Amino acid sequence: MTAVTTTSETNTDLVRAGTAPARLFTRPDGGERAILVQLGGIDTDAAFAELTALAQAAGAMVVGRLGNRRWAPDARYFVGKGKVSDLAARIRDTGADLVLINHEISPVQERNLEQAVGVRVLDRTGLILDIFAQRARSHEAKLQVELAQLRHIASRLVRGWSHLERQKGGIGLRGPGETQLELDRRLLGQRIKQIEKRLAKVHRQREQGRQSRRKRELATISLVGYTNAGKSTLFNRLVASHAYTADLLFATLDTTLRRIELPRSQPAIVADTVGFIRALPHQLVAAFRSTLAEVAQSDLLLHVIDSADPLREATMHEVDRVLLDIGAGNIQTLWVFNKLDLNGGLPRLERDASGQAVAVWVSAHTGEGMELLRTAIAERIGGAHVHGRVRLSPAEGRLRARLYTLGQVLDEHIGEQGICELEVHLPQREWARLRRHEGPDVELWPPDH
Ligand code: GTP
Repeated sequence: MTAVTTTSETNTDLVRAGTAPARLFTRPDGGERAILVQLGGIDTDAAFAELTALAQAAGAMVVGRLGNRRWAPDARYFVGKGKVSDLAARIRDTGADLVLINHEISPVQERNLEQAVGVRVLDRTGLILDIFAQRARSHEAKLQVELAQLRHIASRLVRGWSHLERQKGGIGLRGPGETQLELDRRLLGQRIKQIEKRLAKVHRQREQGRQSRRKRELATISLVGYTNAGKSTLFNRLVASHAYTADLLFATLDTTLRRIELPRSQPAIVADTVGFIRALPHQLVAAFRSTLAEVAQSDLLLHVIDSADPLREATMHEVDRVLLDIGAGNIQTLWVFNKLDLNGGLPRLERDASGQAVAVWVSAHTGEGMELLRTAIAERIGGAHVHGRVRLSPAEGRLRARLYTLGQVLDEHIGEQGICELEVHLPQREWARLRRHEGPDVELWPPDH
């Protein structure tokens, strides 16, 4: 188990920028034995269950919890004076070295509470940022998380608490008459600018990639869904690669793009995306906006749902809400009910009254239902298809090879005088393109002709 990476550790990135000394903030180091605090609210048990999952996702072990349904925020400590001593006692009894608060608290309250109880205090945003920092895989996601972290810290610089500690190489860093707080702000500001510049470059590359896919007429499919629904596992199944998965929240933070093969269709590009979660702090949604923009530009969304989750309806609504929020509300969607192995059901494809595929029941874990899923995807992105026989003379070997490359040949017969007859099934637009290249003489005969 990894200890929760606290802000003091993650900020060593400032050091890498070559602008700051080694150790940044003088605060108690975070650990892995956590006490959870949830105050007020109607369903305290549900709130604790979610906070426990988040704490575990960060690598912490929950050793105690402190809750109170009736509570008024305290300006100084957030939790109220009486609770401060309860908390201190609980920390002593359990040997906890971290307090996780399921709320957003002010920097001053964080400082006061830390000083009063002597261990690291992290609020909800800090905790989620920490998880994101551990899970970010791509260069872009790492930059996005670091930027969100730095902005979070910049908004929390408080005199007398967080300050950059000068150890080595600090000489010359301070301008004459500059206060510690001003120096901190300046260093953070420099690093933020540097990351923004790098991100802008990554975004330009992403846009170029998107344009080249468009040129090659490859459809883009995005996997979306509530965190832990099984997106990365499904992604691996579809692309037969090994993107990282874990039985933890947020295993995926960035979009990973891969090519997938589909039956009787052109290949498509599939994108694995960030897991959605209830009450994601606003600054994080903002940080991942460019990744989520990929979703808004897709031709098809695969909404992955944990079919064994008793709260699946609620999570589906939550995902729909985020999709609306990022401008992806009207992209065609195929529901993928995953984890079928946990329900003991059979893989199946559901269609609406017009015959359109709307839902597929699969198990990404066992691989059951994957062929149905590929068929449904091909149908949904393929649009109208043509199906029939093409007759080709021996001289038309190039066209024959082209049809095979497209993977659209169902059957082949060689007839008299070497005339070969191919049964094909291909998207209308592909057929139209072939005829544009090969000339109008290429004809399509009914399949049973
Ligand atoms: P985030 O990155 O947090 O958004 O998660 P995700 O939606 O990408 O989920 P991930 O693929 O990481 O899977 C979460 C957990 O569910 C892992 O422990 C998987 O092994 C498990 N899982 C995924 N698919 C199935 C399935 O079909 N059946 C079962 N039993 N478990 C599954």
